Amino acid sequence: MKRIIDLIEEEIAGAFEKAGYDRSYARVTLSNRPDLCEYQCNGAMAGAKVYKKAPIMIAKDVIEHLSDKKYIGEIEAVTPGFINIKVCAASAAEYLNAMKEDAGLGLSGTGSPQMIVMDYGGPNVAKPLHVGHLRSAVIGESIKRLARKMGHKVLADIHLGDWGYQMGLIITELKEREPDLPYFDETYTGDYPEEAPFTIGELEEIYPAASARAREDEAYREEALHATYLLQNGHRGCTAVWKHIMQVSVSDLKKNYQNLNVEFDLWKGESDAQAYIPDMIERLKTEGHAHADQGALVIDVQEESDTKEIPPCMVQKSDGASLYGTTDLATLIQREADYHPDHIIYIVDKRQELHFVQVFRAAKKAGIVPEETKLTFLGFGTMNGRDGKPFKTREGGVMRLENLIAEIEDEMYQKIADNRTVEEQEARKTAKTVGLSALRYGDLSNQASKDYIFDVDRFTSFEGNTGPYILYTIVRIKSILNKYQESGGVLCGLRIREGFEAAEKALMLEAAKYNEVMETAFEELAPHKICAYIYDLSNAFNRFYHETKILSEEDGEKKKSYIAI
Ligand code: ARG
Repeated sequence: MKRIIDLIEEEIAGAFEKAGYDRSYARVTLSNRPDLCEYQCNGAMAGAKVYKKAPIMIAKDVIEHLSDKKYIGEIEAVTPGFINIKVCAASAAEYLNAMKEDAGLGLSGTGSPQMIVMDYGGPNVAKPLHVGHLRSAVIGESIKRLARKMGHKVLADIHLGDWGYQMGLIITELKEREPDLPYFDETYTGDYPEEAPFTIGELEEIYPAASARAREDEAYREEALHATYLLQNGHRGCTAVWKHIMQVSVSDLKKNYQNLNVEFDLWKGESDAQAYIPDMIERLKTEGHAHADQGALVIDVQEESDTKEIPPCMVQKSDGASLYGTTDLATLIQREADYHPDHIIYIVDKRQELHFVQVFRAAKKAGIVPEETKLTFLGFGTMNGRDGKPFKTREGGVMRLENLIAEIEDEMYQKIADNRTVEEQEARKTAKTVGLSALRYGDLSNQASKDYIFDVDRFTSFEGNTGPYILYTIVRIKSILNKYQESGGVLCGLRIREGFEAAEKALMLEAAKYNEVMETAFEELAPHKICAYIYDLSNAFNRFYHETKILSEEDGEKKKSYIAI
């Protein structure tokens, strides 16, 4: 369906044309004076210079020539030359009825579906998920669902950090603790045990212990680096331990993401890119895209238009080791070969922006991805505590995501428990659902690139721009509809009549914006705009609810119409 704002604009554009002005001046926007009107057009002001006329004259002229008037209800020219528009309520009601009949609720989706790969989540295997991983998961999941809703084909890849130094650390610590395991016996040629020699709980203790020791103990660190090297070069025992780490850690990650209601299609990781590296390096060298720089291999990515220095993208260290950029370039080769994406979207901490600028430029320059493939970096800001500093536990450590979720669930449970009328189990279940909404909405409602303050009290409040407030509104709506249907009421369309109530009309106009908001949110990869919309819509509904008798309305036609909204 066409957007309601475009329908209004078409009517105004016709009038501009009839009055002898160019249609392009007829741009309509939402009103920034909602007390005066609902939509506005400032085209008369823009045209004043060109047509050498006072803006107010043009505005009046346009209004006089307005002949097709369906969506435009009242229209007025005001000094210095604004055109203020109020929508015809009956036409808005018709629009809502058409939305109701439309399978996409008025959202048509794209005519040219794209293949989109999304890279988000990005947890590091064997390290617990921390609050920093929340944003990528929440924003990524939202954009994935939105892209699918728009009709695109999307593959969500978690892109595990599964190939780094943390693996060497764990292998080293395990060897220290249990040197008799067959993985560390160089003469062993038999099969390794199926079962991992550790549980997830143990693994989560082993990693920080190893990491702390490596910081103090030079020899230990050397050994961990060597173990990393052995793993990356196919050592049998190290590979077997690595497989155990993967198996134990990935099943734990799956559980955690499932709790967040976040789902990936691909559980690939940095390790999957390794097979592509040798050929890539070879090609970068022979085709002259990369050159040696103090023993390392780099690709220059500086462009003339840059205002600041963009250092080269390093693809190999002087000792032959790969780097983060090497893996990301090789992953692009794999993605190109397997999925031919039109667009790849990375949702990663904004502090990694430079890395992605380098990787994207290097990939284009070296022909790893075609020129027309769109590569987008969507960087997100930090979740801060109430002190404005990165969110920490009370003890000052990194907050585990699991604990954060538990904390918010607990807070929610306290609130429910204070005046609960349901069984304990039911209250716990509700606290979980509402708690998750508090967390996800609290995160998603902030513009991705901005830092934000995580405030449990605010996020779990049933008032204000919060997940619980939105859910509360939905429950209120469902309860009205249930009561209506239980007493034999039948759902039908809005009744087209004279004299809509102000709150009723305001709610209709909010609802009618659905397609526009969804399209904009996708185009701009800005899911927070959907949150802002849901909040406005909820406010419009609650105002309507408070000002209108719905179920007790005596005029049957009106009542049907209210229910339909
Ligand atoms: N594992 C990385 C981290 O924790 C994030 C990975 C982001 N994705 C990528 N393709 N580099 O910082």
